[in-house]
Amino acid sequence: MGIIIFLQILSIFIGFLCMETNGSTLVHQALEVQCKESEREALLKFKEGFKNHFGYFSSWKAEEDCCQWERVGCNNETGHVIALDLQGDKGAVTLQLQGEISRSLLNLTHLSFLDLSQNDFNKIQIPEFFGSLSSLNYLNLSNAKFKGTIPNQIGNLSTLQVLDLSGNGFSLTANNLDWLRGLSSLKFLDLGGVDLSKDSHWLEAINMLPSLKELGLFACKLQNLPDSLSYVNFTSLEVLDLSLNSFNSSIPNWLFKIGSGLVEIHLRRNQFHGLIPDAFGNMTSLVELDLSENNLQGHVPKSLATLSRLTVLNVAWNSLEGIVTDVQLLNLSNLRVLELSSNQLAFDIAGLSCCNLGQQFPNWLQTQKSLSFIDISKSGISDIVPNWFWNLSPEVQYMNLSFNGLRGNVPDLSLNRKLSIIDLTHNRFSGSLPLFSPNMRVVILSRNSFSGPLSNLCEMISVNNFLGYLDLSDNLLSGPIPDCWNYGKDLEVLNLARNNLSVKIPDSIGYLVQLKMLIFENNGLYGEIPPSLKSCTSLLVIDLGLNKLSGAIPEWIGENLLDLRILVLNSNALEGLIPLQLCQLKALKLLNLASNRLSGRIPSCVGTLQALTEPGSSCYYNYDLKTLSMMHLERNITGAQRLFPQAVPVVKSMDLSSNNLSGEIPSQFTSLGGLLALNLSRNSLTGTIPPNIGAMEAMESLDLSWNELSCAIPDSILSLSNLSHLNLSHNKLSGPIPHGKNLLSKFGATSYLENQNLCGPPLSKNCLERESYGAPDCPKMELQERSRSSEEETGNGMGIPPFYISMALGFIIGFWGFWTPLLLNTSWRHAYFKFLGSMIDEIYVRVVVGVAKLQRKLQSQRQGE
Ligand SMILES: *[C@@H]1O[C@H](CO)[C@@H](O)[C@H](O)[C@H]1NC(C)=O
Ligand SMILES: *[C@@H]1O[C@H](CO)[C@@H](O)[C@H](O)[C@H]1NC(C)=O
Ligand SMILES: *[C@@H]1O[C@H](CO)[C@@H](O)[C@H](O)[C@H]1NC(C)=O
Ligand SMILES: *[C@@H]1O[C@H](CO)[C@@H](O)[C@H](O)[C@H]1NC(C)=O
Ligand SMILES: *[C@@H]1O[C@H](CO)[C@@H](O)[C@H](O)[C@H]1NC(C)=O
Ligand SMILES: *[C@@H]1O[C@H](CO)[C@@H](O)[C@H](O)[C@H]1NC(C)=O
Ligand SMILES: *[C@@H]1O[C@H](CO)[C@@H](O)[C@H](O)[C@H]1NC(C)=O
Ligand SMILES: *[C@@H]1O[C@H](CO)[C@@H](O)[C@H](O)[C@H]1NC(C)=O
Ligand SMILES: *[C@@H]1O[C@H](CO)[C@@H](O)[C@H](O)[C@H]1NC(C)=O
Ligand SMILES: *[C@@H]1O[C@H](CO)[C@@H](O)[C@H](O)[C@H]1NC(C)=O
Ligand SMILES: *[C@@H]1O[C@H](CO)[C@@H](O)[C@H](O)[C@H]1NC(C)=O
Repeated sequence: MGIIIFLQILSIFIGFLCMETNGSTLVHQALEVQCKESEREALLKFKEGFKNHFGYFSSWKAEEDCCQWERVGCNNETGHVIALDLQGDKGAVTLQLQGEISRSLLNLTHLSFLDLSQNDFNKIQIPEFFGSLSSLNYLNLSNAKFKGTIPNQIGNLSTLQVLDLSGNGFSLTANNLDWLRGLSSLKFLDLGGVDLSKDSHWLEAINMLPSLKELGLFACKLQNLPDSLSYVNFTSLEVLDLSLNSFNSSIPNWLFKIGSGLVEIHLRRNQFHGLIPDAFGNMTSLVELDLSENNLQGHVPKSLATLSRLTVLNVAWNSLEGIVTDVQLLNLSNLRVLELSSNQLAFDIAGLSCCNLGQQFPNWLQTQKSLSFIDISKSGISDIVPNWFWNLSPEVQYMNLSFNGLRGNVPDLSLNRKLSIIDLTHNRFSGSLPLFSPNMRVVILSRNSFSGPLSNLCEMISVNNFLGYLDLSDNLLSGPIPDCWNYGKDLEVLNLARNNLSVKIPDSIGYLVQLKMLIFENNGLYGEIPPSLKSCTSLLVIDLGLNKLSGAIPEWIGENLLDLRILVLNSNALEGLIPLQLCQLKALKLLNLASNRLSGRIPSCVGTLQALTEPGSSCYYNYDLKTLSMMHLERNITGAQRLFPQAVPVVKSMDLSSNNLSGEIPSQFTSLGGLLALNLSRNSLTGTIPPNIGAMEAMESLDLSWNELSCAIPDSILSLSNLSHLNLSHNKLSGPIPHGKNLLSKFGATSYLENQNLCGPPLSKNCLERESYGAPDCPKMELQERSRSSEEETGNGMGIPPFYISMALGFIIGFWGFWTPLLLNTSWRHAYFKFLGSMIDEIYVRVVVGVAKLQRKLQSQRQGE
């Protein structure tokens, strides 16, 4: 707006000057009239005040007509200097004036335009003598590092129309705005960033300015806002910006007496509370309304429906509730930014105001032809998405329809070249996978009913694609995984879990050199793990569980994929030995090789798995890894826990159960002091439980059942104080059960059943003579202690407190059960979230810019300091 008024003034007062739109160069026409001698002297003196000289000062030569000098404008009839445009360059210190402002300016008696913005006046005061430049119409001192109190003398400039003092920071202050009373011609006033906290009567001063069109009091530390004015003088106002102050009141009444000419209202980030007044509906010229980041309550008033010129409606981050209806939004056909987030609003069709039943697709969207950011996630809509929606606007870049009950097919979207993020999570979309363009960055189609082959993917990952995140999990997709990953250089997450994909994992997967997570869990994949995967050295997570993979576990996993945190290969048909090379995975936190056909011994080098030797679990995964809000918001682990209670720490654990492993449990296992869960059940392990098992202090779940372990349970097991699940049943253990208070009170007989010769509580079998326990080759045991305390504890030892049962079950199900784990190394996750976050920011900014370039121009100038 500023620039419009600015040009208008030029055309009225400095008619002969023309100006480039960036406002930095004044160009002359051929002139016959020469400049005044005294004014040339004054300008030369003014120039001397500055330490550094702009390039254009070189044209300021004493022997030449000053009307020909750069940045000087004269009246073409009288020859008086009327304009000085000395705007500096914010981006370049060398192009900012530094020094003194000479009083010789006073000799330019006809000066009407003075722009000293974007210079560096090194925290001097605004000179009082400016108040004597009595012909001034335009004074721009913004972003020029002025400090101190605004001189009252400015109020003498009775012909001033534009006054811009913004962007000097809070070091520029005013005790009051009474001096404004003299500026009766003022049309534009921007005091953005000036500290006005001492002034409680600012509105009265503003009310003396009947010509005011634009008022900027952005971030002025204002607190006091009268609710009513007996008479509102400034009825010409078009733009009002009171954002970032500390108003703690309801939206004032006088706002609605200004008249219907208001075009923009910005009240962002105050503490306004109460209802959004219906009266906004009378402001039919309104183009932008920003009420975000306040504490407004209540509903979005129906009356807003009349604001058909509105392009920006932002009520985000308030306490609004209730229902936004079609009727309200249908007329807002020029809307480009609609921000309703972080309120408790729900969408509804006309008439159905109570329930979530049969909610229809919001038809008002049909009138939104230029939206580029569509987010109607979690809106309770369950309807078929109409065809017009998909071709709504070629501008759409971000489309989030997640967590609704949307149905229907998704058509070919490959012509939507700007679309780069789509999230359709948790709907009921069906039919074949849509076609996308290679411009996609994030594609999330999980938890729908898409079916058929994946062949459509190849278009999206063709040459020069940007794909970074692809999640197609939990659909009904079938057929092979296409062998067209050659250009997937940016892909970081590939999740095809829980579909019906068959055939081999294609070799071209090896081109995904940035891949961090490969999740193919629960499909029908068969064949060997492809050797090309060894090129994906960025991998942090591999989950190929619940498939039909065969062959051996490749040695190169341990040799090449050195960052691996999670390796899940359970429930396949893998055979052979557990390769020693896996011990080289220093970062490995979770290893699941259960339910395969692995044989041989457990390598004794397991003790060197470094991450498992250290206590503590430093990373988290989310059951619902597709919830990208997590990614968007999360900045660190603490934050994640707070924002997403369902985020669960990655359980450092090892599951080798249900294989054909034989030999002894390597004693080196006990150096894995960080391991929380160990499952070696259903193998053919022999020998004893490692005597030093008590060193695995973190252990919460230990399952050694269904093996051939023999001899006594080592006493040291009593020091596993975190243990909440223990299963030693179906072995050949013997001797009395160690029963410190902890162990006995937690675990019942089921933990020990079907052993050769175990005795004592919680089993009903009593211990007899010490000699009769164990085979002759068992290590010697201390039995006295056990026999003595056994009787005392028999009574309560039989019962298992329900708390522990449910805890153990919860643990087992939560952990080994249905598994979508995404666990990410922190720094990786950070980088990725950052990528995604900045991406979304960027898109959003672009939208806003598209809407209101002028607004942004003003704001950047305000933020200049
Ligand atoms: C003041 O100057 C700045 C550039 O320094 C410009 O962005 C702003 O629009 C000007 N203000 C007015 C009211 O013209
Ligand atoms: C002075 O400038 C005005 C506005 O551009 C123009 O109309 C007028 O002809 C000019 N006068 C002379 C003498 O050049
Ligand atoms: C203004 O001009 C007069 C001569 O017209 C001169 O005497 C005076 O010194 C000048 N003032 C300044 C501040 O340059
Ligand atoms: C300008 O304003 C000041 C203070 O507001 C006042 O004292 C002075 O008389 C006014 N007139 C001139 C010409 O400076
Ligand atoms: C309205 O503005 C005029 C002109 O500045 C002023 O005289 C009058 O007192 C103002 N009225 C109110 C109620 O402030
Ligand atoms: C706002 O005003 C209310 C009283 O109307 C008061 O309780 C509350 O603390 C105030 N908030 C702030 C941030 O000053
Ligand atoms: C809107 O304007 C009409 C006509 O000027 C007036 O009757 C009505 O009271 C206004 N509505 C509100 C809520 O101020
Ligand atoms: C929508 O606009 C039409 C025509 O401008 C108008 O008649 C109708 O009342 C408006 N609807 C609402 C809900 O304001
Ligand atoms: C999975 O795919 C096979 C053919 O590959 C088909 O016979 C089977 O019905 C599919 N299962 C489901 C649940 O779609
Ligand atoms: C889509 O919206 C949901 C729910 O508001 C959010 O959790 C998710 O992060 C969004 N997806 C993307 C890609 O921004
Ligand atoms: C982590 O997030 C919390 C909550 O959002 C925040 O308070 C804290 O400053 C953050 N810490 C770091 C190191 O970013």
